[in-house]
Amino acid sequence: MAGRLPACVIDVGTGYTKLGFAANKEPQFIIPSAIAIKESAKVGDQAIRRLTKGVEDLDFYIGDEAFDATGYAVKYPVRHGLVEDWDLMERFLEQCIFKYLRAEPEDHYFLLTEPPLNTPENREYTAEIMFESFNVPGLYIAVQAVLALAASWASRSVSERTLTGIVVDSGDGVTHVIPVAEGYVIGSCIKHIPIAGRNITYFIQSLLREREIGIPPEQSLETAKAIKERFCYICPDIAKEFAKYDADSSKWMKKYDGINSVTKSPFVVEVGYERFLGPEIFFHPEFSNPDFTTPLSEIVDTVIQNCPIDVRRPLYNNIVLSGGSTMFRDFGRRLQRDIKRTVDARLKLSETLSGGRIKPKPIDVQVISHHMQRYAVWFGGSMLASTPEFYQVCHTKAAYEEYGPSICRHNPVFGTMT
Ligand SMILES: Nc1ncnc2c1ncn2[C@@H]1O[C@H](COP(=O)(O)OP(=O)(O)OP(=O)(O)O)[C@@H](O)[C@H]1O
Ligand SMILES: [Mg+2]
Repeated sequence: MAGRLPACVIDVGTGYTKLGFAANKEPQFIIPSAIAIKESAKVGDQAIRRLTKGVEDLDFYIGDEAFDATGYAVKYPVRHGLVEDWDLMERFLEQCIFKYLRAEPEDHYFLLTEPPLNTPENREYTAEIMFESFNVPGLYIAVQAVLALAASWASRSVSERTLTGIVVDSGDGVTHVIPVAEGYVIGSCIKHIPIAGRNITYFIQSLLREREIGIPPEQSLETAKAIKERFCYICPDIAKEFAKYDADSSKWMKKYDGINSVTKSPFVVEVGYERFLGPEIFFHPEFSNPDFTTPLSEIVDTVIQNCPIDVRRPLYNNIVLSGGSTMFRDFGRRLQRDIKRTVDARLKLSETLSGGRIKPKPIDVQVISHHMQRYAVWFGGSMLASTPEFYQVCHTKAAYEEYGPSICRHNPVFGTMT
């Protein structure tokens, strides 16, 4: 609509919050979902907060600044994708809007995201904060997995635009496998896996601890994380990969240069097998977690097999990646190969069991990697919130005032018509 300011798009994750304006390709800010509050401050002190809203609030910090604030306690309003503390969430959003986006919330529609299986009550809380505290003119709460599906359209033809697919969203704290049929999440079939970015970082940290003694102990976590993001990749076969390194280590080993934050002297870390062993825990989780042994490829296959029979083929056909921890090189290729093996073995078995009488139709397994994968949820939101349809499905301030927060319990699916 002419003259309208772009919608604000905010995706608050367990680890990182992505925020920016609709129609952009990337979020303007990616900040840790952390908030530092004065240890003595009473979180529920609404009156003081109302008075200070809109002006620079000095009694708390969010994002990277939260870690630098001394005398403050660092908290995370979101755990495992769900908001745990609404008071903190409100303050967190307040600085997201005023300090980072520098937006007047009265002037922008908002698209916020929610994890799978969010409750209708949580949507009401979100609506109360947005309409009552921030006075926004319109709000839409989008399901993260649906946005991730929409994000994959960026690298596909118009005829392939579908909101049926299975999303493998791997962030910092958890990996979700979420089947979606025509824009609706098949909630009963979702699975969560306790292997995500943080676990890979811990695993690399433990591998390095045994060998690399030059890393300052208080920097070992950030060093492991940096090594993971810079050097790790997924290999087709770990036995062969070990052999490659052993045959010509100079070709495969990397060096990481760090600076001791206290003494300022440099240190060097030799990076070897951890390059491929780190993310291998997606496919061999038992390397790092003795209680969980099912490879990601099997989980995806099981989720699809649990879904209604008529959507299984389209789901195998559209396995979409989303989130920072799917960024390892060849992640999609390995996942596709391993799922394909499981599927082909099952088809072969049914053929054999029928004595060769049944010849099952092959199943096309396609894992979609695309360039918007890192911030897929945010990007999908940015794209959908820039369509005219977005303004038709948003809940408006007027409707909120007339009917109350319960209108935000439901957010209609849209997008495939555009
Ligand atoms: N290039 C990269 N290669 C591998 N891992 C990466 C890369 N970039 C970021 N990561 C990892 O991705 C994770 C963050 O991903 P993301 O921002 O999707 O998570 P989140 O949305 O905050 O968390 P969640 O989805 O669990 O709520 C971190 O563990 C980070 O180390
Ligand atoms: Mg996320």
